[in-house]
Amino acid sequence: MSSAPRRRPVVAIDGPAGAGKSTVTRKVAERLGYVIVDTGALYRVVALAAERAGVDFDDAARASALAESLVADSAVQLRRKDDGAMQVLLNGQDVSLAIRAQNIGQGASKVSAHPGVRAALLELQRSQGREGGVVLEGRDIGTVVFPDAEAKFYLTASVDVRAQRRRDELAARGTPPSLAEVLSEVAERDRRDSTRPIAPLRQADDAKLVDSSSLAIEQVVELIVATVRTVERQLSGQV
Ligand code: DC
Repeated sequence: MSSAPRRRPVVAIDGPAGAGKSTVTRKVAERLGYVIVDTGALYRVVALAAERAGVDFDDAARASALAESLVADSAVQLRRKDDGAMQVLLNGQDVSLAIRAQNIGQGASKVSAHPGVRAALLELQRSQGREGGVVLEGRDIGTVVFPDAEAKFYLTASVDVRAQRRRDELAARGTPPSLAEVLSEVAERDRRDSTRPIAPLRQADDAKLVDSSSLAIEQVVELIVATVRTVERQLSGQV
Protein backbone atom coordinates (compact mmCIF):
# COMPACT_ATOMS: atom_id res chain seq x y z
CA MET A 1 0.00 0.00 0.00
CA SER A 2 1.56 3.29 -0.99
CA SER A 3 0.56 6.54 0.66
CA ALA A 4 1.63 10.17 0.63
CA PRO A 5 3.70 11.31 3.63
CA ARG A 6 1.43 12.14 6.55
CA ARG A 7 1.86 15.05 8.93
CA ARG A 8 -0.24 13.46 11.63
CA PRO A 9 0.00 9.74 12.23
CA VAL A 10 -2.43 6.95 11.72
CA VAL A 11 -2.91 5.49 15.20
CA ALA A 12 -3.77 1.78 15.28
CA ILE A 13 -5.27 0.31 18.45
CA ASP A 14 -5.78 -3.43 18.20
CA GLY A 15 -6.60 -5.99 20.83
CA PRO A 16 -9.11 -8.55 22.06
CA ALA A 17 -12.72 -7.95 23.10
CA GLY A 18 -13.13 -6.08 26.36
CA ALA A 19 -9.58 -4.71 26.59
CA GLY A 20 -10.96 -1.16 26.85
CA LYS A 21 -10.24 -0.20 23.24
CA SER A 22 -13.43 1.82 22.70
CA THR A 23 -13.05 3.98 25.81
CA VAL A 24 -9.32 4.43 25.30
CA THR A 25 -9.80 5.24 21.61
CA ARG A 26 -12.47 7.84 22.39
CA LYS A 27 -10.36 9.55 25.04
CA VAL A 28 -7.16 9.45 23.01
CA ALA A 29 -8.95 10.91 19.97
CA GLU A 30 -10.50 13.64 22.14
CA ARG A 31 -7.14 14.61 23.61
CA LEU A 32 -5.43 14.68 20.21
CA GLY A 33 -8.31 16.14 18.20
CA TYR A 34 -8.26 13.07 15.95
CA VAL A 35 -11.09 11.29 14.17
CA ILE A 36 -12.19 7.84 15.39
CA VAL A 37 -12.83 4.85 13.17
CA ASP A 38 -14.39 1.94 15.04
CA THR A 39 -13.77 -0.88 12.58
CA GLY A 40 -15.57 -3.44 14.77
CA ALA A 41 -18.74 -1.41 14.18
CA LEU A 42 -18.45 -2.15 10.46
CA TYR A 43 -18.33 -5.91 11.07
CA ARG A 44 -21.21 -5.53 13.50
CA VAL A 45 -23.31 -3.74 10.85
CA VAL A 46 -22.68 -6.60 8.43
CA ALA A 47 -23.84 -9.04 11.13
CA LEU A 48 -26.95 -6.97 11.83
CA ALA A 49 -27.78 -6.73 8.13
CA ALA A 50 -27.26 -10.51 7.83
CA GLU A 51 -29.60 -11.18 10.72
CA ARG A 52 -32.25 -8.92 9.21
CA ALA A 53 -31.90 -10.55 5.81
CA GLY A 54 -32.03 -14.07 7.26
CA VAL A 55 -28.43 -14.80 6.21
CA ASP A 56 -26.66 -17.35 8.41
CA PHE A 57 -23.51 -15.79 9.97
CA ASP A 58 -21.56 -18.91 8.94
CA ASP A 59 -22.67 -18.75 5.30
CA ALA A 60 -19.47 -17.34 3.75
CA ALA A 61 -20.85 -16.81 0.24
CA ARG A 62 -24.04 -15.02 1.25
CA ALA A 63 -22.41 -12.99 4.04
CA SER A 64 -19.67 -11.88 1.64
CA ALA A 65 -22.16 -10.93 -1.09
CA LEU A 66 -24.15 -8.98 1.48
CA ALA A 67 -21.04 -7.09 2.68
CA GLU A 68 -20.08 -6.29 -0.90
CA SER A 69 -23.50 -4.92 -1.70
CA LEU A 70 -23.61 -2.84 1.50
CA VAL A 71 -20.30 -1.23 0.57
CA ALA A 72 -21.24 -0.77 -3.11
CA ASP A 73 -24.48 0.96 -2.09
CA SER A 74 -22.70 3.09 0.56
CA ALA A 75 -25.30 1.65 2.94
CA VAL A 76 -22.96 1.73 5.95
CA GLN A 77 -21.88 5.07 7.32
CA LEU A 78 -19.95 6.16 10.38
CA ARG A 79 -20.95 9.67 11.35
CA ARG A 80 -19.73 12.01 14.04
CA LYS A 81 -22.50 13.72 15.99
CA ASP A 82 -22.23 17.29 17.28
CA ASP A 83 -21.47 16.00 20.79
CA GLY A 84 -18.54 14.02 19.39
CA ALA A 85 -20.23 10.61 19.76
CA MET A 86 -20.11 8.26 16.80
CA GLN A 87 -23.27 7.22 15.06
CA VAL A 88 -23.50 4.12 12.91
CA LEU A 89 -26.02 4.20 10.08
CA LEU A 90 -27.39 1.32 8.03
CA ASN A 91 -29.39 2.52 5.03
CA GLY A 92 -29.79 5.86 6.78
CA GLN A 93 -31.14 4.29 9.98
CA ASP A 94 -29.26 4.82 13.26
CA VAL A 95 -28.21 1.32 14.40
CA SER A 96 -25.61 2.44 16.97
CA LEU A 97 -27.44 0.64 19.78
CA ALA A 98 -28.72 -2.35 17.82
CA ILE A 99 -25.18 -3.37 16.80
CA ARG A 100 -24.12 -3.60 20.47
CA ALA A 101 -26.43 -6.55 21.22
CA GLN A 102 -24.55 -9.62 22.41
CA ASN A 103 -25.68 -11.89 19.55
CA ILE A 104 -24.53 -9.26 17.05
CA GLY A 105 -21.08 -9.24 18.70
CA GLN A 106 -20.87 -13.00 18.21
CA GLY A 107 -22.27 -12.61 14.69
CA ALA A 108 -19.63 -9.96 13.89
CA SER A 109 -16.93 -12.33 15.08
CA LYS A 110 -18.36 -15.04 12.77
CA VAL A 111 -18.88 -12.93 9.63
CA SER A 112 -15.46 -11.31 10.10
CA ALA A 113 -13.81 -14.71 9.58
CA HIS A 114 -14.98 -14.81 5.92
CA PRO A 115 -12.30 -13.52 3.51
CA GLY A 116 -14.99 -11.98 1.24
CA VAL A 117 -16.39 -9.92 4.11
CA ARG A 118 -12.93 -8.71 5.12
CA ALA A 119 -12.05 -7.81 1.52
CA ALA A 120 -15.29 -5.85 1.14
CA LEU A 121 -14.57 -3.75 4.22
CA LEU A 122 -10.84 -3.25 3.69
CA GLU A 123 -10.90 -0.32 1.27
CA LEU A 124 -13.66 1.36 3.26
CA GLN A 125 -11.44 1.30 6.36
CA ARG A 126 -8.39 2.54 4.46
CA SER A 127 -10.29 5.39 2.88
CA GLN A 128 -11.26 6.65 6.34
CA GLY A 129 -7.70 6.86 7.62
CA ARG A 130 -5.36 7.58 4.76
CA GLU A 131 -4.77 11.26 5.61
CA GLY A 132 -3.69 10.58 9.18
CA GLY A 133 -4.96 12.35 12.28
CA VAL A 134 -7.12 9.31 12.93
CA VAL A 135 -7.39 6.58 15.55
CA LEU A 136 -8.58 3.24 14.20
CA GLU A 137 -9.55 0.53 16.63
CA GLY A 138 -9.91 -3.10 15.65
CA ARG A 139 -8.12 -6.42 15.43
CA ASP A 140 -5.94 -6.14 12.32
CA ILE A 141 -5.32 -2.41 11.88
CA GLY A 142 -1.58 -2.55 12.55
CA THR A 143 -1.10 -5.83 10.69
CA VAL A 144 -3.36 -5.59 7.62
CA VAL A 145 -5.40 -2.39 7.25
CA PHE A 146 -2.58 0.07 7.97
CA PRO A 147 0.67 -1.89 8.21
CA ASP A 148 2.43 1.46 7.70
CA ALA A 149 0.62 3.18 10.63
CA GLU A 150 3.12 5.35 12.45
CA ALA A 151 1.75 4.61 15.93
CA LYS A 152 0.59 1.09 16.78
CA PHE A 153 -0.69 -0.22 20.07
CA TYR A 154 -1.82 -3.66 21.15
CA LEU A 155 -4.15 -3.17 24.07
CA THR A 156 -4.93 -6.20 26.15
CA ALA A 157 -5.91 -7.33 29.67
CA SER A 158 -6.42 -10.67 31.38
CA VAL A 159 -9.53 -12.57 30.30
CA ASP A 160 -11.07 -12.20 33.80
CA VAL A 161 -10.62 -8.43 33.81
CA ARG A 162 -12.03 -8.16 30.28
CA ALA A 163 -15.09 -10.29 31.14
CA GLN A 164 -15.78 -8.21 34.25
CA ARG A 165 -15.57 -4.98 32.22
CA ARG A 166 -17.84 -6.37 29.53
CA ARG A 167 -20.38 -7.37 32.15
CA ASP A 168 -20.28 -3.89 33.74
CA GLU A 169 -20.85 -2.40 30.30
CA LEU A 170 -23.86 -4.65 29.66
CA ALA A 171 -25.18 -3.97 33.19
CA ALA A 172 -25.13 -0.25 32.46
CA ARG A 173 -27.42 -0.89 29.49
CA GLY A 174 -29.89 -3.26 31.17
CA THR A 175 -30.00 -6.68 32.80
CA PRO A 176 -26.51 -8.14 32.72
CA PRO A 177 -25.84 -11.80 31.97
CA SER A 178 -23.93 -13.80 34.60
CA LEU A 179 -20.17 -13.35 34.83
CA ALA A 180 -19.66 -17.00 33.84
CA GLU A 181 -21.70 -16.44 30.69
CA VAL A 182 -19.75 -13.31 29.74
CA LEU A 183 -16.45 -15.05 30.50
CA SER A 184 -17.23 -17.92 28.16
CA GLU A 185 -18.44 -15.50 25.47
CA VAL A 186 -15.22 -13.46 25.71
CA ALA A 187 -13.06 -16.60 25.65
CA GLU A 188 -14.96 -17.95 22.65
CA ARG A 189 -14.54 -14.68 20.75
CA ASP A 190 -10.81 -14.60 21.59
CA ARG A 191 -10.44 -18.10 20.24
CA ARG A 192 -12.34 -17.38 17.03
CA ASP A 193 -10.71 -14.00 16.36
CA SER A 194 -7.17 -15.21 16.92
CA THR A 195 -7.35 -18.59 15.18
CA ARG A 196 -9.10 -17.60 11.93
CA PRO A 197 -6.83 -18.12 8.91
CA ILE A 198 -7.27 -14.60 7.53
CA ALA A 199 -6.09 -11.48 9.40
CA PRO A 200 -6.19 -13.14 12.82
CA LEU A 201 -5.97 -11.03 15.94
CA ARG A 202 -2.29 -10.71 16.78
CA GLN A 203 0.14 -8.07 17.93
CA ALA A 204 2.02 -6.40 15.06
CA ASP A 205 5.80 -6.74 15.47
CA ASP A 206 6.16 -2.97 15.77
CA ALA A 207 3.15 -2.41 18.05
CA LYS A 208 3.59 -1.28 21.63
CA LEU A 209 2.05 -3.78 24.05
CA VAL A 210 -0.17 -2.14 26.67
CA ASP A 211 -1.61 -4.45 29.34
CA SER A 212 -4.46 -2.59 30.99
CA SER A 213 -5.20 -5.30 33.63
CA SER A 214 -3.76 -3.22 36.43
CA LEU A 215 -3.70 0.23 34.84
CA ALA A 216 -6.40 2.86 35.16
CA ILE A 217 -7.94 4.02 31.87
CA GLU A 218 -6.36 7.45 32.31
CA GLN A 219 -2.89 5.90 32.63
CA VAL A 220 -3.40 3.98 29.40
CA VAL A 221 -4.65 7.12 27.66
CA GLU A 222 -1.70 9.14 28.96
CA LEU A 223 0.79 6.56 27.74
CA ILE A 224 -0.72 6.43 24.25
CA VAL A 225 -1.12 10.20 23.92
CA ALA A 226 2.51 10.76 24.97
CA THR A 227 3.73 8.23 22.40
CA VAL A 228 1.62 9.76 19.62
CA ARG A 229 2.87 13.26 20.48
CA THR A 230 6.43 12.02 20.03
CA VAL A 231 5.50 10.54 16.65
CA GLU A 232 3.82 13.83 15.65
CA ARG A 233 7.06 15.68 16.42
CA GLN A 234 9.02 13.15 14.37
CA LEU A 235 6.67 13.52 11.41
CA SER A 236 6.94 17.29 11.49
CA GLY A 237 10.73 17.05 11.61
CA GLN A 238 11.07 18.49 15.11
CA VAL A 239 13.17 15.61 16.42
O1 DC B 1 -14.41 -4.62 18.55
P1 DC B 1 -15.79 -5.28 18.41
O2 DC B 1 -16.15 -6.09 19.60
O3 DC B 1 -16.85 -4.28 18.08
O4 DC B 1 -15.64 -6.25 17.15
C1 DC B 1 -16.66 -7.17 16.78
C2 DC B 1 -16.03 -8.31 15.97
O5 DC B 1 -15.59 -7.83 14.71
C3 DC B 1 -14.82 -8.98 16.62
O6 DC B 1 -15.18 -10.09 17.39
C4 DC B 1 -13.96 -9.38 15.45
C5 DC B 1 -14.38 -8.48 14.34
N1 DC B 1 -13.38 -7.48 13.97
C6 DC B 1 -12.40 -7.86 13.10
O7 DC B 1 -12.34 -9.03 12.71
N2 DC B 1 -11.48 -6.95 12.65
C7 DC B 1 -11.51 -5.69 13.08
N3 DC B 1 -10.60 -4.82 12.63
C8 DC B 1 -12.50 -5.28 14.01
C9 DC B 1 -13.42 -6.21 14.46
